[in-house]
Amino acid sequence: MRSYTLIAPAKINLYLEIIGDRPDGYHELAMILQSIDLADQIDIKLSSPGGIRVYCNHPQVPRDKSNIAYLAAELMTTEFPTAFAKYGGVDITINKQIPVAAGLAGGSTNAAAVLVGIDLLWNLGLTQGELEELGATLGSDVPFCIGGGTAIATGRGEQLSPLPSLDGIYIVLAKYRSLEVSTPWAYKTYREKFSSSYVKDKDSLAARAAAVHSGDMVKAISHKDVKEIAQKLHNDLEKVVLPAYPKVLELREIFANAGVLGTMMSGSGPSVFAICDSKVQAEQVQSQVREIIADEDLELFVTQLTNHGIQIAS
Ligand code: C5P
Repeated sequence: MRSYTLIAPAKINLYLEIIGDRPDGYHELAMILQSIDLADQIDIKLSSPGGIRVYCNHPQVPRDKSNIAYLAAELMTTEFPTAFAKYGGVDITINKQIPVAAGLAGGSTNAAAVLVGIDLLWNLGLTQGELEELGATLGSDVPFCIGGGTAIATGRGEQLSPLPSLDGIYIVLAKYRSLEVSTPWAYKTYREKFSSSYVKDKDSLAARAAAVHSGDMVKAISHKDVKEIAQKLHNDLEKVVLPAYPKVLELREIFANAGVLGTMMSGSGPSVFAICDSKVQAEQVQSQVREIIADEDLELFVTQLTNHGIQIAS
């Protein structure tokens, strides 16, 4: 029975700017996305009885169609019915290490791994571009999660331009297990509060999206200037999430006072990361935060930025 083990890294947002509304109801974004070493492991194999089955070690992760990894497999069965008929269905086992509902693309990276895994199992020979196109129909972050690394993401988040690698920069990541932020809520609340400042005409939208390519963050990344990258971190969604979630704001403040190079919420939160100048500093900051917040509900990770998306482990 053929099977693959895939590594599916989480992502953080080094930059997230909300530019305006889109006709499809989503937002026009300018983001810089970054893969990190913290990853789930996905085992995927052909299943002789057919169908799709999802297993996961994490009690909060659903096994049915409400799991985007399941939807990714279902998409492949409808897109490639001949291969589905020839090879049968798939069993997917998710070993979850990435905190759920955290703004870290945990679900999206699982879906990306399923697309890559089924492409291999069914000998489809799809290109990365074809996999990204399929991924975009599942979620805005899925295309990025396939190739990973460091990239500018515009449009809904699916239009990608690769940037130089930031491999090896250390971060501390913090997330309260019991705290979840709904991404639709965060964007909806942002729209309610800030849509008066949205860019409205098409040309200005395109110009704002293009501006990120020559912006300060991209320059800092090109020079791998860690201090400058940490200074230029930006996330518009902090404007709605931090006031509504005081614990996230507190984490942000504790990190800033711990002398890190920079700190920011990732995506729609509630995870917060802090960029450090070394592994030693990251470990010290982790201990410092743990001393201040003894709450077992708070998960802390020391991890590093990485230059890859989905990888085949075996
Ligand atoms: O694409 P994805 O399923 O990850 O998006 C989750 C939610 O985030 C969407 O339903 C939408 O409310 C919001 N969103 C948005 N604009 C984007 C991406 C996401 O408004 N570009």
